[in-house]
Amino acid sequence: MKPVRKAVLPVAGLGTRVLPGAKTTPKEMLNIVDRPILSYIIAEGRAAGIEHFVFVTGRGKNAIEDYFDHHPELESQLEAKGKLDILEAVRADLPRPGEMSFVRQMAPLGLGHAVWCARDIVGDEPFAVMLPDMLMHADPPALAQAVSAYNEVGGNIVVVEPVPEGQAHKYGIVALDGDHPSLNRMTGMVEKPPKGTEPSNLFISGRYILQPEIFNLLGDQGKGAGGEIQLTDAMARLMALEPFHALKYDGVTYDCGDKIGLLRANVAYALQHPELGDEARAAVTALLAG
Ligand code: G1P
Repeated sequence: MKPVRKAVLPVAGLGTRVLPGAKTTPKEMLNIVDRPILSYIIAEGRAAGIEHFVFVTGRGKNAIEDYFDHHPELESQLEAKGKLDILEAVRADLPRPGEMSFVRQMAPLGLGHAVWCARDIVGDEPFAVMLPDMLMHADPPALAQAVSAYNEVGGNIVVVEPVPEGQAHKYGIVALDGDHPSLNRMTGMVEKPPKGTEPSNLFISGRYILQPEIFNLLGDQGKGAGGEIQLTDAMARLMALEPFHALKYDGVTYDCGDKIGLLRANVAYALQHPELGDEARAAVTALLAG
């Protein structure tokens, strides 16, 4: 079984739900406590053994590429002023040379099309997809849980979790064969089912391990929900040829593509922060006390 070495990160989306904040700052670069969302996502990927990150980017997203590069002026200023702890924090996310690739999705044709744009860089091996909007707090981290499941059963893995009441029509929803507390064979999936038609209460929450055969299917995948080329539709076709398992992961997800999700993530991560936690708790308590 080939190991999962690469992760595809679709980051071309406009961030409509977090405008105007995401107008000139890519939504994936919005701040959670003291670092951009992508900083957490890359840490999660590295913890799962990912060696290469493929960003599927778009116009107006150059800040992402710049964040993962040296900033010589800033770094030499920090060094000159002896602010070495800040310098270390600034450099912590830098890639090893060659650890990241950037490819452009030239038109917003959907998540399936975005993943397809990474096909040449991924090549003929299993790979992860990480949706950076979804900040997943878990120990072990969510993608590491998915990789463990993959090492156990192979094939394709989709991380799922219970959908918030009445929200199923906004997500990809899976159907399972069985009721194991963590890993179940999947029997179906549907993207954004009309209200009341969802096959279960489990939604696709943002981490996948896929076999490279998905790329051929994505190449001729027609438009689905919302008039977009959907990854879920291509996965449903691949399911006829290869096994898919759904992993009910153990952790908490914050949808940072949403204003309240972003706020929840900021509060939760601030409260857990090793240095800022106590101050954050005092600040939140004071605010709540009015
Ligand atoms: C995408 C996927 C969907 C998944 C969701 C998680 O939808 O297509 O299956 O449940 O991400 O956030 P989008 O949020 O792009 O509409």
